[in-house]
Amino acid sequence: MPEFLKDIKRTHDCGALRGGDVGATVVLFGWVASRRDHGGCVFIDLRDRGGITQVVFEPQTSAEAHALSSELRSEFCVGVRGVVRSRGERKNPNLPTGEIEVHCTDLAVFSRSDTPPFEIGDDANANESIRLKHRALDLRRPSLQKNFLLRSQIYQTARRVLTAHKFLEIETPFLVKYTPGGARNFLVPSRLSPGQFYALAESPQLFKQLFMVAGFDRYFQIVRCFRDEDLRQDRQPEFTQIDLEMSFVVEEDVQTVVEALIVGLWKDVLGIDVVTPFSRLAYKDAMSLYGSDKPDLRFGLPLCDVTEVVRKHDGGGVEMLRQALSAKGAGEAPVVKGWRLPAAEAAKLSNVEIDKLEEFVKGLGARGLARARIGAGGAWTRSPMKAMREAMRNDLNAAAGLQEGDVFFLQFGAPKLAHTVLGALRLHVANKIGIVPAGQWKFAWVTEFPLFERGDDGKLVASHHPFTSPMAEDLERLESDPASVRARAYDLVLNGNEIAGGSIRIHRGDVQSRVFRAIGLSDEDARQKFGFLLDAFRHGPPPHGGIAAGLDRLAMLLCGADSLRDVIAFPKTQKGTDLCTDAPSAVTNKQLDELHIALVGLDSK
Ligand code: AMO
Repeated sequence: MPEFLKDIKRTHDCGALRGGDVGATVVLFGWVASRRDHGGCVFIDLRDRGGITQVVFEPQTSAEAHALSSELRSEFCVGVRGVVRSRGERKNPNLPTGEIEVHCTDLAVFSRSDTPPFEIGDDANANESIRLKHRALDLRRPSLQKNFLLRSQIYQTARRVLTAHKFLEIETPFLVKYTPGGARNFLVPSRLSPGQFYALAESPQLFKQLFMVAGFDRYFQIVRCFRDEDLRQDRQPEFTQIDLEMSFVVEEDVQTVVEALIVGLWKDVLGIDVVTPFSRLAYKDAMSLYGSDKPDLRFGLPLCDVTEVVRKHDGGGVEMLRQALSAKGAGEAPVVKGWRLPAAEAAKLSNVEIDKLEEFVKGLGARGLARARIGAGGAWTRSPMKAMREAMRNDLNAAAGLQEGDVFFLQFGAPKLAHTVLGALRLHVANKIGIVPAGQWKFAWVTEFPLFERGDDGKLVASHHPFTSPMAEDLERLESDPASVRARAYDLVLNGNEIAGGSIRIHRGDVQSRVFRAIGLSDEDARQKFGFLLDAFRHGPPPHGGIAAGLDRLAMLLCGADSLRDVIAFPKTQKGTDLCTDAPSAVTNKQLDELHIALVGLDSK
């Protein structure tokens, strides 16, 4: 008797059969997606990662298989041998295999299934935590299966393109020395060195720079990174980078390699020809025009700066504007920025909807949303700034190009908050009124980032990391005006997402010491923290630079998914838990004792 698996081997996957296969004897393995009993004749949809095929059990084809088929239920795992027949008039145009069905001669039930906790289908609206708990079942859903086939292609293409560009694939450790700065690290206690901790690597940054010192010019790695950050739709605590580093390069050399990688990915995955080189946008312009360092360039609607108009009129009779501009602080000079929604788009927003936007911006930290709908003759209607003198209003109308029917939004005060608020409002409103074009890919390099930013305590910290090179023309201001120094750093943005970030690094000891000093690190501190890198750099470090692309974000965008959770097999929830395995979890006191760790103060948490 021939046996399934041993003698009877799979001939096709469940998405493969077409009209041309009619008459063939085939073997399919998969799961019962659905079962219908049509009095005397049983139909199942058999599913595997290839797709779905209809299988028919009739007594006249095989009495035995027909009898056994009455036991089949959803998610039973089965093997089927049978003959491909045309469905004739009954064909299903919605299924790639819809022209045919398989008339079963032999059926093997490999395993039975309990009633699944939710229906395995893409229209399933089971709550996400139940789906994540039963992730293996969730992953059977055709849309997720498709995402992971696509994700697998990303690895293949990345390796192909980078290998063709003569990159070597080399691994770096996950258990690393804790180095301060950057993302918050996960710590791992060392059993062999009691009281000491490893950090889980937040990226291979320092190791890949050591590779350059080692002469492994052109390194890459598809690597897991770990960051104990607050999670969002586009952020996971463990995520994957396509990480690379090159010697003897300037910015364009690194960017050209990444563009080749993107071209390869979009071609292999979506069959789309992406045009290179990508446009470049200085950080200052990205912030000023779009209020974001990762602008969505699929639509216009830029912000405008009306600071000088308001200053000229000394607030134009609006006390809060006058006060905002006269405020003196240590930070950047205050601004008045506006965003104009042209009449055609503004007509899609009711006054009530506009009023509701105030709540939205308050959620971002704004105190309120100054706004006006422009009426006949340039009048400002529905505006909280009733005291505004006509002369300033006319100048604002001219400066912002305001026309009857437009809506104008204003923010004033610290540029950082004004940009954040108007930038987010721009995205929010564009999505709400449906003006973001689908199917467009707007890539751009954002360049000339500030080298430093101010931490919560007001002190300077490195914006990217402290090994990022300052721009040569700004080097002379490193001590006198460090906040104005720009970095040789670049991010690749796509449709409002940061998909890659990198920089040209410092390879000169004197420049490195000056940067450390600017962020308040003495030579001694620096030695203690980064001694291994600084030592290596004393032995002829080559000029070098690199970048890392977020593989999960690329996968999310290529799949058209809304969340990283749809492209990561076992993702964490917002609280950092894995609902499938129940991690993190408590450990025994014995384990803690071995690590010399005592838990304290948990009751109050
Ligand atoms: P950076 O920190 O900018 O650079 O990270 C590079 C890219 O990784 C992705 N990314 C994330 N994806 C998902 N979840 C996260 N928590 C997360 N954090 C980052 C983003 C980002 O653009 N060592 C440097 C690179 C370099 O300088 O070469 C680095 O890690 O898409």
